[in-house]
Amino acid sequence: MDKIEELISEQAIIKKVEEIGNQINKDFQNNKVMIVSVLKGSFIFTADLVRFLNFPVEIAFIAASSYGASTVSSGELKIRYDIDIPVKDKNVILVEDIIDTGLTISRLKEYLYELGAKDVRICTIFDKPDRREKQVSIDYCGFVIPNEFVVGYGLDYNNKYRNLRNLCKITI
Ligand code: IMP
Ligand code: MG
Repeated sequence: MDKIEELISEQAIIKKVEEIGNQINKDFQNNKVMIVSVLKGSFIFTADLVRFLNFPVEIAFIAASSYGASTVSSGELKIRYDIDIPVKDKNVILVEDIIDTGLTISRLKEYLYELGAKDVRICTIFDKPDRREKQVSIDYCGFVIPNEFVVGYGLDYNNKYRNLRNLCKITI
């Protein structure tokens, strides 16, 4: 049996999501923004976050995996589902569930610039900096967490536990 222990409560998470939403509202007043949600893990965070935004916002999804050794500056990016609206000259906020090694989000950021984005910011609800291989500057960060495997609030272990409303540590 998997052992599940709460690390961050549902109430603390939603309060933080509201704070991030308020900050984005301040930063992007009257500017067009496109949210690019990194599937699958960030689907719940994205759904909560965009409902705190008080201006019209475009929303797209991308699913990708990055493979790469730490010696390689940027891992190879494999896109499994691509953005379906134009990115050119737009301000983009990449929305992630968790940043671990940093390889996925750095490659995604480069990819969005390749597609012609004007500006790309990174927003993550959880940051696990201990295993970072690629330095990334995070513009909006919810919680810095210790180097544990976590599930819930969109994050999975073997495709399960995404539906937990809080963030939990899992011991297998
Ligand atoms: P990285 O930053 O390229 O290492 O990849 C981050 C991705 O790995 C995240 O988007 C998650 O999908 C996954 N991931 C990393 N740490 C965890 C965890 O603790 N639980 C669940 N998924 C994780
Ligand atoms: Mg992910």
